[in-house]
Amino acid sequence: MSHPFKSIPIRSSEITPKDAYLSRRDFMKAAGLTAGAALLTACGPSVANASEGTESAPTSSATDELGNIVNTFEEITSYNNYYEFSTNKEAVAPLAKDFTTAPWTVEVGGLVHKPKTFGVEDLLSLFPQEERIYRLRCVEAWSMVIPWSGFPLASLLKMVEPTSNAKYVRFETVYRPEEMKGQGSPFYPWPYQEGLRIDEAMNDLAILATGMYGETMLAQNGAPIRLVVPWKYGFKSIKSIVKIELVAERPNTLWNSVSTSEYGFYSNVNPNVDHPRWSQASERRIGELSRRPTLLFNGYGEQVASLYEGMDLSLQF
Ligand code: MTE
Repeated sequence: MSHPFKSIPIRSSEITPKDAYLSRRDFMKAAGLTAGAALLTACGPSVANASEGTESAPTSSATDELGNIVNTFEEITSYNNYYEFSTNKEAVAPLAKDFTTAPWTVEVGGLVHKPKTFGVEDLLSLFPQEERIYRLRCVEAWSMVIPWSGFPLASLLKMVEPTSNAKYVRFETVYRPEEMKGQGSPFYPWPYQEGLRIDEAMNDLAILATGMYGETMLAQNGAPIRLVVPWKYGFKSIKSIVKIELVAERPNTLWNSVSTSEYGFYSNVNPNVDHPRWSQASERRIGELSRRPTLLFNGYGEQVASLYEGMDLSLQF
């Protein structure tokens, strides 16, 4: 199995803020876009927000392994899904501004020989942080390309030594309604939970991310530590994790509890299986004008398709 990311690491020295920033701006100008013309679709970020005040924010001309240019720091940090703060993507960043991300511990237990609670600082020193440029495809049909830093989830799981009964991994977000006002909403079964099959969790593409654009992660992106599973719809990539549990049975997930027919456990990106309320055949890359086709497994089939051999992909949305 090949791991393209290992061969194209991004270094901070390759970050070329002005170039990428200017080319995006020039493109917008050439396209005749002004702030007033910014709302391309109902849920798009405003172009004004995405291009103003970024002089000091890092942007990059780095690309993923398919040649897609990474989204700007501003885009990635100002258009977020994080229902613990708000269901309005542009409101998340200001509401998350003062969220307490330190001290922070992650309890890793369940069906393991060596359960342990790790401080985030332990995780940073135990596991070398790698930079990975991943596409993030939201189930809502928008996408971004994000330069994460983090470490393979497998490294942490191996350290706690799962028992042979461990078949799934369950993740839980912090529950802190005094700081996360969205957790007061009765419409969602808090805390946010997610899960993976253990072989999915052990795949090298699955990382625990601690940073973005070479910087410490901001609260709106799931600081201090979040899962990133790039071949699955974005909601699987659970933010601000405090608990990881190895279990025998398939765990409940927040979105599956909210709407079983719309959000499955696997939720692999699949252009051929539509959401009951919209098509998944194409997507809108934030910062682009036209839609692009969605790729099976979000373009990571070479690394992950073997995990689903023999499964009917049209059923396991
Ligand atoms: N994790 C928690 N705890 N709460 C959330 O609301 N939203 C998910 C996922 N992880 C979410 C979450 C969804 S729908 C997406 S698309 C991604 O986070 C968005 O990640 P980003 O804001 O860093 O782009």
